[in-house]
Amino acid sequence: MQKSDPNRIIIFDTTLRDGEQSPGATMNLSEKILMARQLDLLGVDIIEAGFAASSPGDFEAISAISREIDNAVVCSLARTDIHDIDRAAESLAHAKKKRIHTFVATSPLHMQYKLNMKPDEVLRSVENAVKHASACVEDVEFSCEDASRSDLDFMVQACQIAVDNGAKTLNIPDTVGYAQPAEHAARIAYLKERVSPDIVISVHCHNDLGLAVANTLASFQAGARQAETTICGIGERAGNAALEEIIMAITVRRHLYRLGHGIKTEHIYPTARVLSRIIGHTIARNKPIVGANAFAHESGIHQAGVLKNPETYEIMTPATIGLPSNAIVLGKHSGKNAVKAKLEDMGYHLESEQINQVLAAVKRLADVKKDIYDEDLEALVLEEVYRIPDRYALVHLGVQTSDSGVPPTAALVLDVSGKRVQHAGFGVGPIDAVFKAIDKVTGHSPKLEQFSVNAITGGTDAQGEVTVRISENNRNAVGRGSHPDIINASARAYLNALNRLSRKEEDN
Ligand code: KIV
Ligand code: ZN
Repeated sequence: MQKSDPNRIIIFDTTLRDGEQSPGATMNLSEKILMARQLDLLGVDIIEAGFAASSPGDFEAISAISREIDNAVVCSLARTDIHDIDRAAESLAHAKKKRIHTFVATSPLHMQYKLNMKPDEVLRSVENAVKHASACVEDVEFSCEDASRSDLDFMVQACQIAVDNGAKTLNIPDTVGYAQPAEHAARIAYLKERVSPDIVISVHCHNDLGLAVANTLASFQAGARQAETTICGIGERAGNAALEEIIMAITVRRHLYRLGHGIKTEHIYPTARVLSRIIGHTIARNKPIVGANAFAHESGIHQAGVLKNPETYEIMTPATIGLPSNAIVLGKHSGKNAVKAKLEDMGYHLESEQINQVLAAVKRLADVKKDIYDEDLEALVLEEVYRIPDRYALVHLGVQTSDSGVPPTAALVLDVSGKRVQHAGFGVGPIDAVFKAIDKVTGHSPKLEQFSVNAITGGTDAQGEVTVRISENNRNAVGRGSHPDIINASARAYLNALNRLSRKEEDN
């Protein structure tokens, strides 16, 4: 479908902005770049890369993503504040295609208690901000924050002022996830009737009542043509509308919706995996489209039906979303070309030196694990390439356990900012002994809030993927590590979380 087709849905992905605001989903710069590349490969139309004025880290990420991305429009969020808009424009200086997204709240509650502004001051701020943004970039989007609790005519008035000053997209967020499908659709229809037909109407729905996707789909039927989404629906509180659910709904039910999109659906599953690995959250097994059970048939009746004709119980095929068939791809004898081709197939375009790094890791892994699958390779890329230099790195680890009354013992060597430091200690179990020894070396003693182990692929030689969440001095961090030995994977995950924690300390 042509980009100009009036029935094409524009996907505005905000995984890197609203998504990154969700608890425990913080990403570092190289992880944001990796995610942005993956979103570009997936075919999203716009990547909201951050909120430039909110922190130097966001500014830097938007600038880096602007240089990196070839296809998608790169966008920065900005309040209706001239300084915010200038920072957004600066951060987008190198983007091939750029958008500024400016917003202000229009609900009585937000105007009075959050902004402490009178309605006419809010309208003036819209006029000034959108005029200023339009002087900086051609493509400006305006959002009425908390639109679903705003007075309809006041919301339309704010939108009309934005259009008169150059906004080309009007976004109607359900900021607190309060709206119901028919109600949100009626709001969109009301606005659509009152603004020029060449203005794109967008929706941005939160999931507090579990209706973000339903509200988005209902809004399409009322004339919205842009959806603000995140991968796996991550975002503030209960999250945002999940990209994969919206896209597969309009794809599977194409005769009902009669809408097109530019998403390459075969990249949906790899994109969800990349996100899950980066933020260290596992995807719920029953998550629509990308959860492990989405295509698993347990009951005999269902299995028999699927074997005779998959359409009996499957409304889409696993291949449509890029679910790998788990074909063995690499092993001990694979060379650089095979690794490079496989990585490119999976959407990773690495420099020659980075491919050598991954190849060396493949060889090391192949010594202990015979078959290397796509998921293993992806874990190696994230471990080896997309890690910013760490303060603490694991060099050697030895663990002893016995049932003879000797407590489990861990001995380890860490690299601490370039210096080798060793320590040994006891614990109630081997992982406890490792974490205690790490605490001794690093001088941290965080609270372990969450610990989970996941087998990356099947088989007893599968790599274990450990995710930990720790907190110390009111800061928390998620860490992830993978290794065929789960005690080693645990040490890596714990160190990864400590590295993130100490980076947060440095940033403040
Ligand atoms: O939820 C919301 O209202 C937002 C706006 C900034 C678009 O995220
Ligand atoms: Zn939001």
